[in-house]
Amino acid sequence: MLYLLVKMKFFIKTFGCQMNENDSEKMSGLLHLSGWEKTDDENKANLIIVNTCAVREKSEEKLFSYLGRIKKFKRKNNTIIGVTGCVAQLEKEKIFERASHVDFIIGPHNYYKIHKIIQKILDKNEKLIDTQWHKEWPGIAENCILRESQAIAYVTIMEGCNNFCAYCIVPFTRGREKYRPFWSIIKEVEQLAQQGYKEIQLLGQNVNSYFYAPEGKNFVELLREVNKIEGIEWIRFITSHPKNFTKEIAHAMKDLDKICPQLHLPVQAGSTPILKRMRREYTRKDYLEKIDYLKKLIPDISLSTDIIVGFPGETRREFEETLSLLKEVEFDNIFSFRYSERPYTFASRMEDDVPYKEKIKRLIELQTLQKEIQIKNNKKKIGKTFKVLVTGKSKKDKNMWTGRNIYNQVVNFKGNNIKIGKFVNVFITDAGPYSLRGKQVK
Ligand code: SAH
Ligand code: SF4
Ligand code: F3S
Repeated sequence: MLYLLVKMKFFIKTFGCQMNENDSEKMSGLLHLSGWEKTDDENKANLIIVNTCAVREKSEEKLFSYLGRIKKFKRKNNTIIGVTGCVAQLEKEKIFERASHVDFIIGPHNYYKIHKIIQKILDKNEKLIDTQWHKEWPGIAENCILRESQAIAYVTIMEGCNNFCAYCIVPFTRGREKYRPFWSIIKEVEQLAQQGYKEIQLLGQNVNSYFYAPEGKNFVELLREVNKIEGIEWIRFITSHPKNFTKEIAHAMKDLDKICPQLHLPVQAGSTPILKRMRREYTRKDYLEKIDYLKKLIPDISLSTDIIVGFPGETRREFEETLSLLKEVEFDNIFSFRYSERPYTFASRMEDDVPYKEKIKRLIELQTLQKEIQIKNNKKKIGKTFKVLVTGKSKKDKNMWTGRNIYNQVVNFKGNNIKIGKFVNVFITDAGPYSLRGKQVK
């Protein structure tokens, strides 16, 4: 008799930040090890996991519109549907009430047992929820990660946040800061180097405050150690908090040859009173002094930031201070958002007196200014040649490849014999606000 062993298939939909992407890779790895197979087709999946983001109201709404869309698979294939991530932690069983076709809810601290939770659901056919907090690093083995990219590997080094910025939900979804054991990070990066990865990105809500007490190691020591690992060529880290970004870290960036001259340093606003009310613990002057120091130390440094417009009480004049900060720093890239009220936060108790239309107007004005800055600066790159790490085919044009240069800028290019995860030299022939274009050269 012939037995066909058909593997159960899973599909993961990921919303949110790089840490969420890395969490999905960890869940994929654990499921893969327990016999599941990953699929890119929701219709073929026996299990669909939605890994969610709660940072803005709009991010949260994405979960419910997606759940609506996949209801048909439940009906047709009896697919198991689970919700993980920041909305799972925040809304807990309320998700069952709003979407009765959901079978399980797991918060970010409990991914390490996802395969066991799903097995229980298969065995008992009942709904499960696990959103318990853990004080310790809820690690999974370093080799249990099924990665999406063959070029860039995410390495989470800490999770959670102690800062409680007035607008932010993250401390309520990820809990307090937990630092991953130093040795475990090094072990993972060594494995990645052996697998041929050239770039790693160290992840955490507040990477600069990394401190692993049992080994007495801080973030700079981590950078030094990772920099020694043979095979890895580019190292980046996100996210840095300006208040924890020290001169020592700036010098480590300059001295360690593999740390890319590129930094994401979220400023959020250009006005000191707004920063104070956001509880950011630095002033406009503090921020600009740090930027100045960095630019003098690493003249070619590429900077990016996050901005929130229309924070409660933000006046036109205060908003203009954000515009002037953008003009002064000339970031290579920004991520800008309209303020969105989030439950439990300090700001949710403030009166949100900036009208919706005004918020939109400010956002457009900010983005228009930044676009001009980026066009101007990117045009200067035409005629230069950059080393580019190939990440894949261009989404817009199938004849083009895409990758990143050392400054983390997107470079689309034409070339032959291109391999994902390898470096090529690209001569820049054209530049837009958000990417560079060119052709491969020797
Ligand atoms: N830990 C990181 C990431 C936080 S979330 C950090 O501290 O930088 C990413 C960005 O989302 C933030 O930097 C902020 O600009 C934006 N954000 C967070 N909460 C928001 C809110 N309530 N409304 C609008 N934007 C928000
Ligand atoms: Fe949120 Fe502030 Fe923590 Fe970043 S530092 S995760 S913005 S509370
Ligand atoms: Fe979103 Fe949670 Fe990341 S709220 S930005 S997925 S930490």
